[in-house]
Amino acid sequence: MATTFEHEPPYSVGYFIGSLSSESINRTLSKALIKLAPPEMEFVEIAIRDLPLYNRDLDIDYPPVARDFKAAIASVDALLFITPEYNRSVPGALKNALDWASRPWGQNALTGKPSAVIGASMGAIGTALAQQSLRGTLSFCNAPQMTAPEAYIHMTPGLITDDGEVTNEATAEFLRTYMNEFYDFVLRVLTVLPRK
Ligand code: FNR
Repeated sequence: MATTFEHEPPYSVGYFIGSLSSESINRTLSKALIKLAPPEMEFVEIAIRDLPLYNRDLDIDYPPVARDFKAAIASVDALLFITPEYNRSVPGALKNALDWASRPWGQNALTGKPSAVIGASMGAIGTALAQQSLRGTLSFCNAPQMTAPEAYIHMTPGLITDDGEVTNEATAEFLRTYMNEFYDFVLRVLTVLPRK
């Protein structure tokens, strides 16, 4: 019996940049990832900068900016988190965004969304602790995560140009593989968890 797979590409990926900086190396990394991703993936940034600080008093009537933010998450097939590490953890702006996404209770926008985590740092351990912390939050929020490969990008001057060209072929190949694996992961999750 022939079966049809109802989740045909393209797959939309909402990506979060954990940094608000205009000179963010993680934004530069995002440009490279988008260039190296399989053509079946389409990318849209889900911006976090305009969200106020989360306050559960507002659960009863979410502000429009937070409603729009949750609607943006709902509209995509998968989520990609590209984040720096701040003081060995997730930047507050990104954690704040995840808190908004997770509430009101029972209306968690992250549940069932295939997700991946990556980050760049000038430091040698390349955001490992921020990613670990972020993974804990995504687990609690019931977002299936790609657990391997991991990617801790040690950014050096000139490694990625401002428009996202990776100048080192080994790094480019590593990031290409990472995005191919993410594509496979999204496909696997969508096969068992239907799009809403
Ligand atoms: C940092 N940085 C940093 N780096 C790191 O590897 N581990 C860390 O814990 C921290 N902590 C930290 C805290 C704060 C408040 C700042 C501003 C910076 C350095 C950080 O990796 C570097 O500034 C990156 O350039 C930040 O990423 P974006 O903003 O360029 O994407």
